[in-house]
Amino acid sequence: MKVLVVGNGGREHALAWKLLQSPQVKQVFCSPGNGGTATLANCLNVEIAVDDFASMVDLIKKEAIDLVVVGPELPLSLGITDYLREHNINVFGPDKAGATIEASKSWAKDLMVSANVPTAKSATFTNAEEAKEYITQEGAPIVVKADGLAAGKGVVVAMTLNEALGAVDELFAQKFSTVVVEEFLTGQEVSVLALTDGVTIRPLIAAQDHKQVGEGDTGANTGGMGAYAPTPLVNAQMSDRIYTEILQPTLKALQDKGIDYRGVLYAGLMITPEGEPKTLEFNCRFGDPETQAVLPMLKTPLFDVLLACAKQNLASLPPFEWHEGSAVCVVGASAGYPGSYEKEKEISGVMEAQSTGATVFHAGTKLMDNRLITDGGRVLGVTAIADDFQGAIASAYHAMDKISFEGIYFRRDIGHRIMNN
Ligand code: AMP
Ligand code: GLY
Repeated sequence: MKVLVVGNGGREHALAWKLLQSPQVKQVFCSPGNGGTATLANCLNVEIAVDDFASMVDLIKKEAIDLVVVGPELPLSLGITDYLREHNINVFGPDKAGATIEASKSWAKDLMVSANVPTAKSATFTNAEEAKEYITQEGAPIVVKADGLAAGKGVVVAMTLNEALGAVDELFAQKFSTVVVEEFLTGQEVSVLALTDGVTIRPLIAAQDHKQVGEGDTGANTGGMGAYAPTPLVNAQMSDRIYTEILQPTLKALQDKGIDYRGVLYAGLMITPEGEPKTLEFNCRFGDPETQAVLPMLKTPLFDVLLACAKQNLASLPPFEWHEGSAVCVVGASAGYPGSYEKEKEISGVMEAQSTGATVFHAGTKLMDNRLITDGGRVLGVTAIADDFQGAIASAYHAMDKISFEGIYFRRDIGHRIMNN
């Protein structure tokens, strides 16, 4: 079998790597891929932009590709799935209507309210003055969210009234015409990536991300500086609640809208101090870097699972099987990230890191004249698995310490919430 993975991040490297461990998969294409997928055995990068659907169809027909797995939200929200399905191609990833769950916060909020899914109280505004009036009434802390894809930069968790009012002006001054103002929730965040074929939905093991750039969860929000799985916060009882209170009703609400959702339903949840799971957001894709911690733990061949979702026969698969133990992924970033940063720094030590038994997932890397160089903010992630978290954390850092490039930055405290609990 042949698979095309669309995207170029750490998530896509992990997807390609895991798909190639499925006995049926002989070849993976990655468009456009990165330095990691370029050097993975039986994986070939193809220079097709993630929104060039016509060129993808040409490649898929020419190579007789059996399944397309879409990584990022952008092509999903642009309708890649609709386009490829019209050409009778198996796609893992929701159609354009389904991707609205991530592309529009207000749409997602309405869906949650209609399905009685627990979430923060909120109101939607198309007028700055009305939004500010509401914020002034509610008081701080409060959360202001842009209604549209914003690459992780559209959410302001405002601790003061002034910050919240400023955020409204800021977002309306940008391209956004709608904002969602939301009650501030406290607790611990977890990421539940659930796979669905539109009829059946099954969660993968729950993960926790580290969104902020600085140690102790301080500083600016990033795309994710590290992750671990499974999180002990989601025990069997919590998992049941998430399934019955959040995942099932959301899928039902999508069905009621006539949406045939086949892909990942990623629920970003807050587990409140009272132990209630509340939904912060839904994404229409695998999380990054959660995927780099979750997939190495999966025993069931990934190809079988993703194809079953694309062909709408997930219920026929036995329950997913998992390795024992814990996985930790530490992300190495360029100096300055998530602000501006330089590229094209030579990377060394990847082989040495891998020889410790860890897996290095490339994100912003590329090969130039056979040299591996940096090509993004989040450069790579190192994942280690061990019998317990302490071991996995130690192994991930032992491997990360072998890697170097000018300005490399990584948090030294990935997993701190578990070790401190
Ligand atoms: P979102 O893209 O909606 O998940 O928001 C990005 C980040 O902002 C989340 O991962 C949380 O850390 C934070 N956040 C979002 N909504 C809330 C909320 N209602 N209360 C507290 N923090 C929030
Ligand atoms: N790790 C956060 C995300 O993928 O959205």
